[in-house]
Amino acid sequence: MWRPPDCSPELLAYSRRMAASAKRILLIYGGHAGGRTLQLVQAVTMGILQSGEPVELRAQPALDAGADDLLWAEALLIGTPEHFGYMSGAVKDFMDRTFYPVEGKVDGLPYAIFVSAGNDGTGAVTSIERIALGYKWKKVAEPVVVRGEVDAAAMQRCAELGQAMAAGLALGIF
Ligand SMILES: Cc1cc2nc3c(=O)[nH]c(=O)nc-3n(C[C@H](O)[C@H](O)[C@H](O)COP(=O)(O)O)c2cc1C
Repeated sequence: MWRPPDCSPELLAYSRRMAASAKRILLIYGGHAGGRTLQLVQAVTMGILQSGEPVELRAQPALDAGADDLLWAEALLIGTPEHFGYMSGAVKDFMDRTFYPVEGKVDGLPYAIFVSAGNDGTGAVTSIERIALGYKWKKVAEPVVVRGEVDAAAMQRCAELGQAMAAGLALGIF
């Protein structure tokens, strides 16, 4: 079997153990192709990857995600633009499709939200938090709301959210 030259059997065994014990994070998101929410998704993803924690990330547009993804997940991140004082239609559609199939099976799932908004964002946050109560998910971080253009500080806040999620999950804090 091919092996990288500096990879000892112990290191390989370690990395296999890490992969086997990796915690599973589902990230679902709405927003326009090439839009601001996608920039935030990239920052959150970087934060997760750079945390160095043994986590497996499944990042999917909300429209492509379903109940199986939710049942797979040990933590959930939701990224959405605010649309008409609410979460995006894509994220709402995800909830419409998954609520009954997962009812009673995702109690206590740690979750966190990040929002891209023109000038508000509170409607997206409160609409998700209200429905999260129905799923019985557990909020583990304050929502990150980014208003207007996405700047470096916003990217940093999202990266920290991803990092905190990965670390909290890997360390068993949630
Ligand atoms: C149909 C529509 C409705 C919107 N409604 C709101 C709103 O209620 N409150 C707000 O702050 N921004 C609102 N916005 C602005 C978006 O939230 C904002 O432009 C966001 O950054 C878009 O993210 P995206 O580029 O990922 O699609 C709306 C935008 C669209 C297209």
